[in-house]
Amino acid sequence: MSRLIIVSNRVAYPSEGGVRAGGLAVAMYEALDHYGGLWFGWSGQTKDDATMEPRIAESSNVTYVTVDLKTEDYQDYYIGYANGTLWPLFHNQIGLIKFSRAAFDGYLRVNARMAALLAPMIGPDDVIWVHDYHLIPFGDELRKLGINNQIGFFLHTPFPPRQLLETLPRHALLLHSFAAYDLVGFQTEESLHAFQDSVIELTRGRCYGGGAFVLGERRGNAAVFPIGIDTERFAKYARRTARSRHTTRLKESLSGRALIIGVDRLDYSKGIPNRFEAIDALLTDHPEHRNQVSFLQIAPHSRSDVAEYKALRRDLEAAVGAVNGKFAEYDWTPLRYINRAFSRLVLAGFFRAARIGLVTPLRDGMNLVAKEYVAAQDPEDPGVLVLSRFAGAANELKAALLVNPYDADDIASAIHRGLRMSLDERQMRWRHMMDVVSDNTVTTWRESYLCSLYETQLERVAAVG
Ligand code: G6P
Repeated sequence: MSRLIIVSNRVAYPSEGGVRAGGLAVAMYEALDHYGGLWFGWSGQTKDDATMEPRIAESSNVTYVTVDLKTEDYQDYYIGYANGTLWPLFHNQIGLIKFSRAAFDGYLRVNARMAALLAPMIGPDDVIWVHDYHLIPFGDELRKLGINNQIGFFLHTPFPPRQLLETLPRHALLLHSFAAYDLVGFQTEESLHAFQDSVIELTRGRCYGGGAFVLGERRGNAAVFPIGIDTERFAKYARRTARSRHTTRLKESLSGRALIIGVDRLDYSKGIPNRFEAIDALLTDHPEHRNQVSFLQIAPHSRSDVAEYKALRRDLEAAVGAVNGKFAEYDWTPLRYINRAFSRLVLAGFFRAARIGLVTPLRDGMNLVAKEYVAAQDPEDPGVLVLSRFAGAANELKAALLVNPYDADDIASAIHRGLRMSLDERQMRWRHMMDVVSDNTVTTWRESYLCSLYETQLERVAAVG
């Protein structure tokens, strides 16, 4: 077996106990936990005098190699281009996109520097798997350094429609760098088609049946691999924590009211303001739920140095105050809003205690919270998932109550329906979704991706032979 090298901007250390905002880190942690390998990426630290000397740590069968970023690089690469340009673009938030040449140059510079640090650690048989929008040019930089190994890429976010990508200055350069990879993986068919459309219309590239594409001199493959969770482990967490101290405290605080839960990074793509509006609509249109439900939104701070995230934070604080001011009683607050992160173990217990799981992003690559909510349910008395039709997970979790996240009334109606749903219907819908999340786990995702990557290697050998 060749060694697997995972490259991602965000790296999760085991010592952090799974308290990590963001699906990518959780999924990569679980994928590596089983098989071992090397995980390379940013340490999460910035320093004015950062030398970019890699720091190496070992834990069971995983070697963690991380680097600090210089403050200027953090600004240009992470705050500026990755999260100020690509993130809003890839989530169709066109009004929020900021572009500056300096940030784009910083993005390319950090990709090149990080690739140069990893290159000497790569052995001849290693397989390299690069993740997400921060590192699109990483493979190209490795190729420039003469690395001939199999290199794959997986995009955890959606890929934007061609008409949006076209608004990005120098989009052709970015598109061409996908051709450095032997295999490009997407979460959904929609993203794959958007990518192929862009290759054909925005470069002089070609796409063939079976996912092959040609960009300039290079040929690559693209395919869909919807990411999953470690379903069994999460279900076990939920059973274990059903009567834990935290879950008991939460249940006692509800005094018999139904719990509605949302867990998201504090990000504008998650549709949290619309969700608060939906709670307002629910309590206005269906006053019978007043004093009968409690909505818990857990939203750990994220990317707080990006202006749009600061603005969102202020807006949400005001929105929570407005809803609670309007409906709260001296013994009941409809909305509980928490900005700290909880471990996955604690969350599993909270999900199991919730009658409704509210997952309503405006757009999302997959959304693993939706899958975790399903995995955590008690088969005898499962809750109802209310899910945005614009989350990648909606392609698989068709038995959820699917909503338009821009329409607060639609979300409110789905919550109302979920609160009144019969046990039979809840069980039927849950069984359907549980079968899906049990069949397509993080392990099947990892294995099907890596098998396809190995196949491209065989094709390459056959072509040379
Ligand atoms: C999303 C992205 C990940 C990112 C995560 C957390 O899930 O796809 O690449 O790691 O958000 O965001 P952060 O900026 O804290 O890494």
